[in-house]
Amino acid sequence: MKNITKVYPNGVVANRDVTFEVNTGEIHALSGENGAGKTTLMKILFGEEKPTSGSILIGGKEVDIRNPQDALGLGIGMVHQHFMLVPSLTVTENVILGIEKRKGLGIDYRSAEKLVGDMGRKYNMYLDPKTKVRDLSVGQKQKLEILKILIRGARILILDEPTAVLTPQETGELFAELKNLRDQGFTIIFISHKLDEIRELCDRITIIRHGETKGVFGLEGITDEELSQRMIGRDVQLTVEKPECRRGGAVLSAKEVVVSGDGDKPLLDRISFTLHSGEILGIAGVEGNGQSQLVDAITGIGPYDGGEILFSDSTIRQGDIRRIRKSGMGYIPEDRMTLGISPSLSVTENMIADKIDDPRFFSKGGFIDNGGIDAFSRQMIDDYAILCQNGDVSISSLSGGNIQKVVLAREMSSNPKLIIANQPTRGVDVGATEFIRRKLVAMRDSGCAVLLVSSDLNELLGLSDRLLVMYGGRFAACFSSLAGVDGQTLGRYMLGLDKQDEDEISRSAM
Ligand SMILES: Nc1ncnc2c1ncn2[C@@H]1O[C@H](COP(=O)(O)OP(=O)(O)OP(=O)(O)O)[C@@H](O)[C@H]1O
Ligand SMILES: [Mg+2]
Repeated sequence: MKNITKVYPNGVVANRDVTFEVNTGEIHALSGENGAGKTTLMKILFGEEKPTSGSILIGGKEVDIRNPQDALGLGIGMVHQHFMLVPSLTVTENVILGIEKRKGLGIDYRSAEKLVGDMGRKYNMYLDPKTKVRDLSVGQKQKLEILKILIRGARILILDEPTAVLTPQETGELFAELKNLRDQGFTIIFISHKLDEIRELCDRITIIRHGETKGVFGLEGITDEELSQRMIGRDVQLTVEKPECRRGGAVLSAKEVVVSGDGDKPLLDRISFTLHSGEILGIAGVEGNGQSQLVDAITGIGPYDGGEILFSDSTIRQGDIRRIRKSGMGYIPEDRMTLGISPSLSVTENMIADKIDDPRFFSKGGFIDNGGIDAFSRQMIDDYAILCQNGDVSISSLSGGNIQKVVLAREMSSNPKLIIANQPTRGVDVGATEFIRRKLVAMRDSGCAVLLVSSDLNELLGLSDRLLVMYGGRFAACFSSLAGVDGQTLGRYMLGLDKQDEDEISRSAM
């Protein structure tokens, strides 16, 4: 891609004279801070956005890519930052959506089903062609997105933050699949903020910042510090300083909580723990071991049908969300697009959506104080370094990481007593990750209780004062001190290979 410039209709310059080159058969990382222009550059390559100027060459030949069909015709496929699958359809139906048999072209369902199975086996990503997408795990959905573009003939694969939603185990599987594809001559462009993953997987890295290329590097010759310096433009502290924990009274307690589910085994099986003010309690686990049910039950979004959850001395019940929030619970949801924001509203509206009766935003006569709202929104945009023209733009025009920052700003600004942080740094750049982690520690130091659910083991080990590991709907371990605990150890509990004594867990989980 040569001298690519992209100006969006609203005047935002997302790419400025960017030149980006990838070799056949390499895995090339594309990285840089939130809003740097990575997704935009790749949408241009995939024909979803038109460059304002610049040219694209494949094998030295200039090509004209006007839409994704053109791109696929040239062997370029993209897996988006947010999944684009239809949950109610099967694996096969999703694959052939848009290329179904029409006037003798395309493929019919029967042969598609066989193709999906065969391709899955060939590339080590087999999925049952008849399964409904809603029944797939996140890792399997990711596989399906990749299969979909492979079947459409892609030789150059663009993956936009594919591991942001994966567990460490799933990431390992994905990397093996990608390396396998590379060895078969495929070319992979890998967008990511995670330096360790980039190191493990990629041959080279291109960094962009403020829409401009900031260099191309082989990964052997550059340190993490230098990489983050080039991405963010300043030194980034990759580990957080944490003062001694000053644990206060109980804020949240769960007693023998059960979520039965539809199967014969309960999804949550008599879970008990206490979370105190001034502490960060981490929860580790491979996805699907009860973490989501636990978070849903605590936040009032989902049911529980045994035991009791107490927050600020009152019982949490499903659907009671407004009261729960009013009594001081903040929630950073895992899925920002469906639970975190309202995509049709502006940045400011999303930021104050939970504060409609906040006295800060009303004048004496009870009228809405737009000045107050704007000032608040500007302050948040500033504090959280949210990249947008102003608060009035639609939140959907923000980059993925910046949308996450809006959610954080809203949730952390209402002085919660308890914050449920589910994957808080997913998809945010190294600079913002540092900021968010510091903020969580600062909130804890001012007495807030933090429940941290994360698939990033470094994050859990770096932030938690105590750490619970979930396996099969129960706790497999509880560490009241993290001295000497490492990812390897956690991994064994997460996979059910090790288990602590029940009494010991119950004691330290209180
Ligand atoms: N459809 C759009 N209309 C207007 N502006 C947009 C649109 N899409 C993106 N932008 C803006 O273009 C800039 C680059 O966004 P882009 O999504 O390419 O960033 P990114 O590098 O992928 O960031 P992230 O790491 O957060 O995903 C941002 O300022 C963003 O707000
Ligand atoms: Mg992006």
